[in-house]
Amino acid sequence: MENIHPIFDKILGRNEKESFLNQRAKVLWFTGLSGSGKSTVAQHLEKKLFNEGFFIQLLDGDNIRTGINNNLGFSLEDRNENIRRISEVSKLFLNAGVICLNSFVSPTIEIRNAAKQIIGTEDFIEVFVNTPLEICEQRDVKGLYKKARAGEIKGFTGIDSPYEAPVNPDVEIKTENQSIEESVDQIYNQIIGQIQKNN
Ligand code: ADX
Repeated sequence: MENIHPIFDKILGRNEKESFLNQRAKVLWFTGLSGSGKSTVAQHLEKKLFNEGFFIQLLDGDNIRTGINNNLGFSLEDRNENIRRISEVSKLFLNAGVICLNSFVSPTIEIRNAAKQIIGTEDFIEVFVNTPLEICEQRDVKGLYKKARAGEIKGFTGIDSPYEAPVNPDVEIKTENQSIEESVDQIYNQIIGQIQKNN
């Protein structure tokens, strides 16, 4: 490590790139149970922000666990490594001025703190998608809760692996009481001031 010298920001920095994109880069970190609606809400928010001229990268299990992290499972150790790599990738996007919408179960306070440390406190916006387990299990969009209850999947978050809710999230949405549009609007209203470039 001591012989490695990162070359970021020597000539062209994040500031110039943010100006080019006319935005301030942040990571919106969606956490919640599997099936809570994280990715759905993130996708709709991406569309809304994109239509307003923001430049965004969506990161979620589907594009990360089938690619860069396809060698990782769901032990706590692998989840930690999953989130560590995602956080490092997010930092690269931040340096390119890009807003990241990250949607990962990220089940423990420790795991999310580690993400926040890597990304930087001032760039990390925690969005808690607070959908109760009963609702996620009722929805069971991917059929995984049924398999977990049947013992076909071990260590499933919320069933036989813990989920620790954020204590003081920046944004909290309750998808059982509101439409996708309402959730999107709520997040939008709470974060828009942080991603707009005030020249
Ligand atoms: S995390 O815990 O490491 O943050 P991540 O968000 O990448 O998890 O992946 C979660 C997704 O993987 C779930 O939405 C679900 O589709 C699938 N999955 C498969 N096995 C498990 C498991 N044991 N626990 C939780 N999710 C699982």
